[in-house]
Amino acid sequence: MMKYARHNLLSSLVPLQQGSLNHHHSQSIGRLRTFSSQFRRFNSSNGKGPIFSEKDKVNGQYPPPWFSVAPMMDWTDNHYRFLARLISKRAWLFTEMVVAETIVHQKDNLDRFLAFPPEQHPIVLQIGGSNLDNLAKAAELANAYDYDEINLNCGCPSGKVAGHGCFGARLMFDPKFVGDAMSTIATNCDAPVSVKCRIGVDDRDSYNELCEFVYTVSSKSPTKHFIIHARKALLNGLSPAENRTIPPLKYEYYFALLRDFPDLQFTLNGGITCIDQVAAARRQGAHNVMVGRAAYNNPWHMLGHVDSAIYGLPPSVLSRRQVLEQFQIYGDSILKEDGRKKPNVRQLVKPLLNLFHGERGNGLWKRKADTALHHCTTMKSFLEETLSEIPDTVLDSVPERNTPESDGDFVDLDGLLPPPYRCEQQLHSLNDQKASPLLCTA
Ligand SMILES: Cc1cc2nc3c(=O)[nH]c(=O)nc-3n(C[C@H](O)[C@H](O)[C@H](O)COP(=O)(O)O)c2cc1C
Repeated sequence: MMKYARHNLLSSLVPLQQGSLNHHHSQSIGRLRTFSSQFRRFNSSNGKGPIFSEKDKVNGQYPPPWFSVAPMMDWTDNHYRFLARLISKRAWLFTEMVVAETIVHQKDNLDRFLAFPPEQHPIVLQIGGSNLDNLAKAAELANAYDYDEINLNCGCPSGKVAGHGCFGARLMFDPKFVGDAMSTIATNCDAPVSVKCRIGVDDRDSYNELCEFVYTVSSKSPTKHFIIHARKALLNGLSPAENRTIPPLKYEYYFALLRDFPDLQFTLNGGITCIDQVAAARRQGAHNVMVGRAAYNNPWHMLGHVDSAIYGLPPSVLSRRQVLEQFQIYGDSILKEDGRKKPNVRQLVKPLLNLFHGERGNGLWKRKADTALHHCTTMKSFLEETLSEIPDTVLDSVPERNTPESDGDFVDLDGLLPPPYRCEQQLHSLNDQKASPLLCTA
């Protein structure tokens, strides 16, 4: 009886909460209808449709990327980003890396790789590559999609990326080339450009070498924003996953960059697992924080607090039931729309599978989901069949923040900071002229 009642409530899209939430709910469903139809319209408009979403801009600009969701291949696709945007209105969202050659060779099929619904602003396109002509063409083609920033991947250690055609983390060996590449990208698009890199690669891992990279790239190109994954990459012998856990995190390198390059913007990335760590890093002076795995593996608890704890908005009143209702409408409206029977229910459900991370009923729900994915042909039927395993209290609760505030990983870093960076030019001039020491402020 109870199960039946809950199914009824889900299928009629009526939330269990009271007054104000009903109002919020009907507004959000209304918005979503517009959203889905805009996405469809945009998909068929070959990148030329109006895609601006102005509503969140202040003085013509989005709030800064104090919090961003990292680029993650196979994870941060359109469907995950749709879910992330339902949970946080403010987080900056990165795409998966799109290889420049893919953009160039698929120029008649670009929506498949580059289209996104306007609500996903602010959104950053990450590209990968090492051929200047292709990076130029890719930036020019991507420009039509109005990304808010174009980012170059200089941190991926995967053999497929780093070993093939010399890009990803391997690019850190050649800062001058990265400077040229960033200059080329910036010339061919209107969006600001940024670099995502490691703190070093193989034995090129001293703080000074990191600074040489940042200094060279920022002086040869308009790059003013660096995203620093605070562990080095080892190109031989470690898998990509091991390269995200085995090399130790050195947050002190990140904070030293803030000290030594006061004119640049730096985003801290690596090993951050909860919103309190994000807030703590910002209290210690971090400009911005990027979170990868925790935002995918535990989206509700990671993203549910971003707007309030990081951007100062009122706490969220959205429940997971409401998020799922909106996601269901989105999913069913785009099912199989690309003509190749894609996306299918399995692809749409994938980002939802972590929504109940650590909650009662999660294990049973996942098992039921596994079975349901064999026969459900719509998101609606999938959710109706499976959600009975999740208690109402979980479905209808808003994000809760219980952990005490602590500066944990980011206190007492002062003693660990490497000595200040001096660029080679300044060292020469110091030697030649015995000039008073100055810091590089590239
Ligand atoms: C599945 C997966 C795919 C990733 N793909 C990319 C990528 O395409 N480009 C990139 O710069 N980093 C990629 N990363 C690395 C993340 O962006 C991030 O730097 C890394 O996970 C460390 O952050 P975290 O500790 O918050 O997860 C990937 C990470 C994961 C887990």
